[in-house]
Amino acid sequence: MVKIEIDGMLREFPDGTSVGPIDLAVEDGELMVLLGPSGSGKTTTLRMIAGFIESDTGKVCFDGFDVISVPPSERNIGMVVQSVALFPNMTVFQNIAFGLEVNNWAREETIKRVEELADILGIKNLLHRRIDEISGGEGQRVALARALARRPRLLLLDEPLSALDPKLRERLQDEIKKIQRQFGITTIYVTHDQVEAFAVADKIAVLQNGVIKQVGTPDELYFNPKDAFVAQFIGHGNILNGEVIDRDDHNLKIQVKGGIIETTGDFGIGEKVALAFKPEAIKLDMKNQTDTLSGQLESVTPHLGGFKVILSVGNQKIVSFIADQNYAAELQDFEKSDVGFSIDQKRLKILT
Ligand SMILES: Nc1ncnc2c1ncn2[C@@H]1O[C@H](COP(=O)(O)OP(=O)(O)OP(=O)(O)O)[C@@H](O)[C@H]1O
Ligand SMILES: [Mg+2]
Repeated sequence: MVKIEIDGMLREFPDGTSVGPIDLAVEDGELMVLLGPSGSGKTTTLRMIAGFIESDTGKVCFDGFDVISVPPSERNIGMVVQSVALFPNMTVFQNIAFGLEVNNWAREETIKRVEELADILGIKNLLHRRIDEISGGEGQRVALARALARRPRLLLLDEPLSALDPKLRERLQDEIKKIQRQFGITTIYVTHDQVEAFAVADKIAVLQNGVIKQVGTPDELYFNPKDAFVAQFIGHGNILNGEVIDRDDHNLKIQVKGGIIETTGDFGIGEKVALAFKPEAIKLDMKNQTDTLSGQLESVTPHLGGFKVILSVGNQKIVSFIADQNYAAELQDFEKSDVGFSIDQKRLKILT
């Protein structure tokens, strides 16, 4: 549909808050997620791409053409925002058809297009209803159909599912992904929810304080975070701070609060490093027999079909998850005691 290239796009607000400079490329037909905590600049970035917020500097190119001076209505974009503003006194059909009628589509073409989209989105039986006669989830589908009606070359979605319950969100994530693939429409999808991001994304751009920290596939972000923010933000990542105390060729000994970690890398003695690892890289040993590290077992609590284990190591907390209920019960007896643990060296990433 369209390839997006953003280069140095920046907006500074009068109070000094800024979003950017943003550099980002979205390939034709790709679904790019903008993921970041509240206030990190996701909506502002999206609105700058749409043209609703002017950027102070930088370029926004659609297929190589800078659209900075093109008004939003001429950028050929479909947009869905968090608090969907459907026209309440119109029917579902009229809502979806609205943009087509404004653009003088022939009646027959309009009916065909609306029915086609309603069919794909599973809302064909609702076309005659008024907006106040449908549910929130159905409303999101109507909004999506309305955004897609004019065959936009770019789809911008700002937290399109955040008002919905978790089950429906999951279902609509799958549906949005399917429709996006089916139409091959270039899409930028904003969310602060990483589970949602991982469910829909081809690539994810992680934002913090108005700038992009890393862009990559979900796997790249999960297994190869470039900095401590991304390492921690994605997948309950853990960080332990340490210092290289010995080095033999590439074999390193790193002192952390809970003990010594042996691993490989290219860091010199005395260098301060951050060790990043995901919860599943941790192996617990409550009897503290074989393991090289120790920490205090803070808590073992039920969590999403398993148990969440929090250890404190010095003044840092690390998280692990276990599935087995009997094991969780055994571990609970060790709460507030020192326990041993080890970290799978292959799943350890050293950051500076
Ligand atoms: N018109 C404005 N004037 C001043 N500051 C603004 C304006 N619009 C946004 N900001 C600031 O810019 C930053 C980014 O806001 P933005 O709405 O893009 O965040 P977000 O990532 O979408 O957050 P959320 O997840 O809460 O929707 C915030 O610090 C916000 O306060
Ligand atoms: Mg926002």
